[in-house]
Amino acid sequence: MPTLNDLATSRTNLGDADVEWLHALVSDWQLLADLSFADLILWAPVRDDGGWLALAQMRPTTGPTSLQDDVVGTVAGPEDQRLLNVARDERRIWRESDPDWTTGVPVRAEAIPVTRAGRVIAVIERCTNLASARTPSRLELTYVQGADDLARMVAEGTFPFAGEAAMLVRSPRVGDGLLRLGRTGRVTYASPNAQSAYRRLGLAADLIGAELAVVTAGLCASDEPLDESLMVVAAGRAPRAAEVDGNGSVVQLRAIPLIVGGSRTGALILIRDVTELRRRERELMTKDATIREIHHRVKNNLQTVAALLRLQARRLRAPEARDALDEAVRRVGSIAVVHETLSHAPDEVVDFDDIADRVAMMAGEVSAPEVRVIPKITGSFGPLSAAVATPLAMVLTELLQNALQHGFPAPVKDPANRDWAVRDWDAKDAAANDGGLLEVIAVREAERLTVTVADNGVGLPEGFDLDSTTSLGLQIVRTLVVSELGGRLRIVPRPGGGTEAVVDLPVRNE
Ligand SMILES: Nc1ncnc2c1ncn2[C@@H]1O[C@H](COP(=O)(O)OP(=O)(O)OP(=O)(O)O)[C@@H](O)[C@H]1O
Ligand SMILES: [Mg+2]
Repeated sequence: MPTLNDLATSRTNLGDADVEWLHALVSDWQLLADLSFADLILWAPVRDDGGWLALAQMRPTTGPTSLQDDVVGTVAGPEDQRLLNVARDERRIWRESDPDWTTGVPVRAEAIPVTRAGRVIAVIERCTNLASARTPSRLELTYVQGADDLARMVAEGTFPFAGEAAMLVRSPRVGDGLLRLGRTGRVTYASPNAQSAYRRLGLAADLIGAELAVVTAGLCASDEPLDESLMVVAAGRAPRAAEVDGNGSVVQLRAIPLIVGGSRTGALILIRDVTELRRRERELMTKDATIREIHHRVKNNLQTVAALLRLQARRLRAPEARDALDEAVRRVGSIAVVHETLSHAPDEVVDFDDIADRVAMMAGEVSAPEVRVIPKITGSFGPLSAAVATPLAMVLTELLQNALQHGFPAPVKDPANRDWAVRDWDAKDAAANDGGLLEVIAVREAERLTVTVADNGVGLPEGFDLDSTTSLGLQIVRTLVVSELGGRLRIVPRPGGGTEAVVDLPVRNE
């Protein structure tokens, strides 16, 4: 089905501001259809042609439709055309005296000119199915009277309300609850739903005759300051929405001030009980907050563990034992980074680029100070679920660690082997100063993530075989990549010297 915009720009002479106005009108005209118990069709004059084109249509939710077929995009027949012309030329609401029987049911057609800035830019045809009309009740009389006020405001160019922010995801509907206020803000009619919404807010008395702003102020949760804008809305003075929170219920009010022929006739207040909606929102919010808090605590605990290990390492004499504990501190630290990130993330998905930056920085910091190689990250990891991020952070830590430790080894501290140490120092120093390279390359595709950790260091030892290594670091990496993440791991000599570790993972798009 063509949109209002498409139709208006391709087939009418309406300007941008006119189309804007019509958009505002149709975003709110359910109200007019419901109050009228009638179908609405928005007609605009066709460019260079005497005819009319249907731009939009709305069926009532309060009664049966009189238009079985969609009419948007069609042009008006001669009968309708005459009616629409009268409304436009005489600039007033025009009602056909005899009902139309062409569809088998009696339909009364009325034409309401849509005025903007003093010009009639379109006409609404209101089609009422007379067959379903019953002896009007108080409710129906109030609705129809409200509809007539609104129709006159459309014709006078005062509805839709210019500049009213479309702040409601869904405005309350007539069926949700309706109040009619008189000129002084007193309730002259309350639909049963509106009355029960106020009862749930704690009102014991009847709403009829009460001054809505006063009643509403009395029901608000008393420990909170009175909301000015709520008072304006409850008085029916501004075309806005507000919420009343009292007695454990939350009720949304939307005011439609009625100003006809320059004088205020009162207001319609649409009312909707949003208690359940708000409760669910709050629940979701607290659930999120709890998850974030848990991650925060896990991170703190891991940092405590790391601190304990560090303390213990300091007391050790044997360098090997010390190194082992330092290693453990790093491993714990990389997991803490993930939880830290998750403690800020709104859900269980994290931006891994952030984590990679911090893991790389950590690895660079803890490497021997003589090894001045700073890992460089290129490409993007993108968002990853926590289930992938945690193991991947550890894998990255291990691989960076290996490159810094074995690729660019620090001078050996063993004084008995000084010769070798000096040679090694030269080699490493050269590497660090002219082009010591440690690069992490992330390539994220639709369902794969490839991470390469490349160094141009001394290269793998002779006879290196990944599958038969018994050292802990690469065993951890292999277990995480293959078993935990279902990916592949390769560690090979890098073309041009050094070593290259490639991790290839299946990932879902988050
Ligand atoms: N980037 C690299 N450059 C050179 N050699 C490497 C590199 N990565 C791994 N190696 C070699 O692979 C061996 C196994 O690495 P692995 O991480 O499993 O153990 P480790 O680093 O010696 O000890 P740890 O358990 O503390 O990590 C290393 O000892 C090293 O010889
Ligand atoms: Mg290692």
